[in-house]
Amino acid sequence: MRRKLAAGNWKMNGTSDALAELDAMAQASGGAEVLICPPATLIARAADRVRGAIAIGGQDCHAKASGAHTGDLSATMLKDAGASHVILGHSERRSDHDEHDEDVRAKTQAAWDAGLVAIVCVGETLTEREAQNTLDIIGGQLAGSVPDSATGHNLVVAYEPVWAIGTGKVPDTEQIGDVHDFIRARLERRFGAGVGRSVRILYGGSVKASNAAEIFDVSNVDGALVGGASLRASDFVPIIDALN
Ligand code: G3P
Repeated sequence: MRRKLAAGNWKMNGTSDALAELDAMAQASGGAEVLICPPATLIARAADRVRGAIAIGGQDCHAKASGAHTGDLSATMLKDAGASHVILGHSERRSDHDEHDEDVRAKTQAAWDAGLVAIVCVGETLTEREAQNTLDIIGGQLAGSVPDSATGHNLVVAYEPVWAIGTGKVPDTEQIGDVHDFIRARLERRFGAGVGRSVRILYGGSVKASNAAEIFDVSNVDGALVGGASLRASDFVPIIDALN
């Protein structure tokens, strides 16, 4: 059985005041695992505050463990600050920082070397979907971004259609199911049934309390990676509850 995961990506939002939101999230966790990935400036304080009641993660890491890389953070540093997970290959990183599959793969390996769970993001643009290239794009990103030593413990895949992020547009449940089933099949083919069936696959893109239950009913949806609706406990707790 795959444990459900409600993950929040705060992106470049949140200063000290935001930490209070974690208290109610920590109480709501129930059977589902809850993860918040705040900006790096808040990781250590967030981890101290929640004391393991929920998991805390980073939003990116460098592929190297240390060195002359001004402004970057290594996976080891995230782990040291109290993170257990890291989001990698988010479409905003891919577009804002010109990250490609091979970069994501190297960062994922660095995350594993540091003992972090990697949440590897894949997703098509609207143009790619309209050209009926969705599955080719997802298949290529998965193959290129995930290293060979994946397990059910070190890898989570997040399917985030780029056109659904922060737009209020959500694919219909059939479209979500088609992509999640495809990702599951690719994971099983590459890593074998045992690993392939144990990796969790999250949906991300305009998830909110009002659509969460319907999305969580779709086959091979093991939870969500939530942006805007993870910033406040009043929005995120109902999403956690929909998984419990
Ligand atoms: O990583 C989560 C994200 O990209 C989805 O953002 O605001 O559409 O829930 P949002």
